[in-house]
Amino acid sequence: MKDFINIADFTAAQLSGLIERAIADKAEFRAGRLVQTLTNRTLAMIFEKPSLRTRVSFEAAMTHLGGHAIYLTKADIGLGSREPVEDIARVLGRMCDGIMARTFSHDHVEQLARFSPVPVINALTDYSHPCQAMADAMTLREHFGDLEGRTIAFVGDGNNVARSLATLACKLNMRFTLASPEGYSLPSDFLDRLVATCSHPSCRTTHDPFEAVRDADVVYTDTWTSMGQEDEKTARRQAFAAFQVNDALLAAAPDHAVVMHCLPAYRGSEITDSIMRTHGDIIFAEAENRLHFQRTLLSVLMGEGGIG
Ligand code: CP
Ligand code: NVA
Repeated sequence: MKDFINIADFTAAQLSGLIERAIADKAEFRAGRLVQTLTNRTLAMIFEKPSLRTRVSFEAAMTHLGGHAIYLTKADIGLGSREPVEDIARVLGRMCDGIMARTFSHDHVEQLARFSPVPVINALTDYSHPCQAMADAMTLREHFGDLEGRTIAFVGDGNNVARSLATLACKLNMRFTLASPEGYSLPSDFLDRLVATCSHPSCRTTHDPFEAVRDADVVYTDTWTSMGQEDEKTARRQAFAAFQVNDALLAAAPDHAVVMHCLPAYRGSEITDSIMRTHGDIIFAEAENRLHFQRTLLSVLMGEGGIG
């Protein structure tokens, strides 16, 4: 597999293999023994949306591996406006060794992959955020020692992050519950397809956050208003008001439950300052693991010919 676009494209063995490899590479990195596998290689990074974690982690990862990254904004290249996506893919494919893209349209990332001869990585679209889900699973594997049978309660919007996490959870035999207000769940055709394609899936939705967290190992949340939805902010604040991850909600979860957030966090909206402080160790380990997972991913895709 040349690209990393959709979690659904990979087998459970490939996904858990990548997670284990990332954990091992992280230990080598921390011991100062990381091998520079991408010397003199270049990654083009296309960003149509803002970023802290994704940009810094990909760029730092390329530095660690001996390569270089070029940051390209919408204003620089006008993906699909100044120039067709297909032409950009062909040009970057001749000048660079890999492409990472954060776009609004998921189809644009798919097109980049179709027309570029070099690996393409999905760094968040309106549809999905697979690198985030992989770093999240890596963090849980490190924290709990295992993943199978663990329960993730995602409290919030049925968005790109929820979609990738639900897909990965089903692949890795974890249980996934999405608690969201009416009208903000993941689409039922996506959920039906997910359940139909996984061997032992346990994926369900509810409108009751307290019921969702009752047996959770992980309480996960994300912003109520994703990038590109700014016009809906007021309506969403009202719709999601009862879905805040706060001390009262955590009191309904098992004592061992951890809280995760892909960040950026909007304290006072989807999560409280108190929860950010008490669960900060895991939330920021999760952010750090974006670097470790993606460094391994870059090495596998750009240095070893893809995910086998
Ligand atoms: N979690 C995440 O993707 O963060 P950024 O938007 O800062 O890259
Ligand atoms: N759902 C959020 C994730 C940010 C990392 C967004 O798309 O803005």
